[in-house]
Amino acid sequence: MSAGIPVGLVGVTGYTGMELARILSGHDGMNLIRVTSRAEAGKKLSDIYPFLLGMDLGELEITAPDVDELAESCKLVFLAVPHKTAMDIGGKLYDKGIKVVDLSADFRIRDRETYEEWYKVDHTREDLLPKAVYGLPEFYRNQIKGASLIANPGCYPTSVIVGLTPAISEKFIETKDIVIDSKSGATGAGKKAAVGSLFCEVSDSFRAYGLGGHRHTPEIEQELSVVANEDITVSFNTHLLPINRGILSTIYTKLKDGISAQDVRAAYEKAYGAEKWIRVLPEGKLPETRWVRGTMFCDVGLVVDPRTNRLIIVTAIDNVCRGASGQAVANANLMLGMNEGHGLNFAPLMP
Ligand SMILES: NC(=O)c1ccc[n+]([C@@H]2O[C@H](COP(=O)([O-])OP(=O)(O)OC[C@H]3O[C@@H](n4cnc5c(N)ncnc54)[C@H](OP(=O)(O)O)[C@@H]3O)[C@@H](O)[C@H]2O)c1
Repeated sequence: MSAGIPVGLVGVTGYTGMELARILSGHDGMNLIRVTSRAEAGKKLSDIYPFLLGMDLGELEITAPDVDELAESCKLVFLAVPHKTAMDIGGKLYDKGIKVVDLSADFRIRDRETYEEWYKVDHTREDLLPKAVYGLPEFYRNQIKGASLIANPGCYPTSVIVGLTPAISEKFIETKDIVIDSKSGATGAGKKAAVGSLFCEVSDSFRAYGLGGHRHTPEIEQELSVVANEDITVSFNTHLLPINRGILSTIYTKLKDGISAQDVRAAYEKAYGAEKWIRVLPEGKLPETRWVRGTMFCDVGLVVDPRTNRLIIVTAIDNVCRGASGQAVANANLMLGMNEGHGLNFAPLMP
């Protein structure tokens, strides 16, 4: 076993749990010593993930989630569980002084009523909402370093907030006319059995869902409102792609008079030039999900359409890595005093 900092993972059998197991199997600063699943408790991790055969991590026994056991042995715990469950387990771990990175939405929305309206459950740990730091490293890295509770961003919101922030902070676009057209691969829905996620329902087809009502809307509006220093309302619309991993967001905005394509490009290059994971693509190039697959990259493409005076922003991320587990590890790295990118420098998984 490695000498890294002992960490735990609640929900190892889901897609984000699987990605955390992949990333942490090659991370020498953290030692994954507890992994939980109620359905698979008693099995070795390599029984469900043969990619771990022959590795120490593959020998680790899956246990049922037990807050006391996690708190006794781990310095930090990743929660890769559905919303509602996360606030319960996360709140108890936080009370015991354990650092928590929550991949669910439970601590992302700062206003309890907004959370309850969109997620249709009561928030039982409102006291922790002001303590949670929104874990987008490029924008909150200083607060993340000192945090004990991270609200790891949603996958779609990551792709949208990165895409829109420079245009909004530079006041280049009309903030009342933003249309977001996002497309996600099927892992975004999680691993639970559902007819809509069956192979024959997803492959060889393409459909919209959740138009105007997706739960990531208030998270996007919250973060963009911080950037704009005014309340922002967006039209956020989602689609299911017949691929496993990846999100492509195409964002339609109205440019203000007098703003040129050169102004836009210069602002994005200035904002993200020092960010290793945000790649502003050269003029004429547009992002594709395959070039970010399995990585921390968010690729950004910029198009100004002079006929309609629109700035069209296209972003691509891997929903499971950058949009969830990779970002969670970046946050944990910062919380534990390591470099943000420790163990995260992946090249894309080629087609
Ligand atoms: N999938 C994505 O692309 C993505 C991206 C960003 C954020 N997220 C968020 O990350 C979280 C996990 O997503 P996922 O897609 O990995 O989900 P998933 O595939 O449905 O897996 C859920 C995991 O949580 C465990 N679990 C479920 N209910 C539990 C409970 N009451 N107590 C303890 N463990 C429980 C499950 O194992 P057992 O039932 O066996 O215990 C399983 O390991 C969700 O909140 C999701 O919204 C997902």
